[in-house]
Amino acid sequence: MRIHPSILSADFANLEAELGRIADADSVHVDIMDNHFVPNLTLGLPVVQRLQQVSPIPLDVHLMIADPDRWAPGYAEAGAASVTFHAEAARAPVRLARELRSLGARAGVALRPATPVEPWLDLLAEMDLLLVMTVEPGFGGQAFLDVMLPKLRRARAAIDGSGAAVALQVDGGVTAETIVAAADAGADVFVAGSSVYGADDAASVIADLRRAAGGC
Ligand code: DX5
Ligand code: ZN
Repeated sequence: MRIHPSILSADFANLEAELGRIADADSVHVDIMDNHFVPNLTLGLPVVQRLQQVSPIPLDVHLMIADPDRWAPGYAEAGAASVTFHAEAARAPVRLARELRSLGARAGVALRPATPVEPWLDLLAEMDLLLVMTVEPGFGGQAFLDVMLPKLRRARAAIDGSGAAVALQVDGGVTAETIVAAADAGADVFVAGSSVYGADDAASVIADLRRAAGGC
């Protein structure tokens, strides 16, 4: 059970200090939005390169951008531990995942709520991480979509059946309450933005999330 706080909900004027608040977590989730694939704009490669230099924990990059085939490899070259691109945006997902792996990153595929998981199950061996979005991507602070739980269960069954070592990540609306259902449905990596950064004591929320997910 791994907890990845999202710096989307952090103070963007103090990112190094904000990384220090979550040093107990397993990785930091970095949301890249381009105002095309999603209707929001966050940060890009130069900022990620600096985060990589100062972060006490590995970077888990979530690319909510158009044309990841062109842009994703740069994040792997920057040293991100994992680089996740959206299934809906990639033109050649197998080629891109192989390129990310060859650059030393773990390759992730993300699915919007309306994107079925089934067409991707034959590609599990090509990925290290499958991200089932539990909100419509673009903004923090939205409510967890319970209707994604059956999709998570089907993904978990397929991963177990495949024998591939693929992490099953959930992102969106994860709190100490909703994480219980997500873990029960088979998720093992949990992104949490507002629930962690909205708290005074981020470390204690991370510990609560880990406990609620059954990981300690
Ligand atoms: C949403 C982002 C999420 C976001 C989650 O599009 O991908 O990573 O930071 O924020 P919360 O946990 O507040 O839903
Ligand atoms: Zn995200």
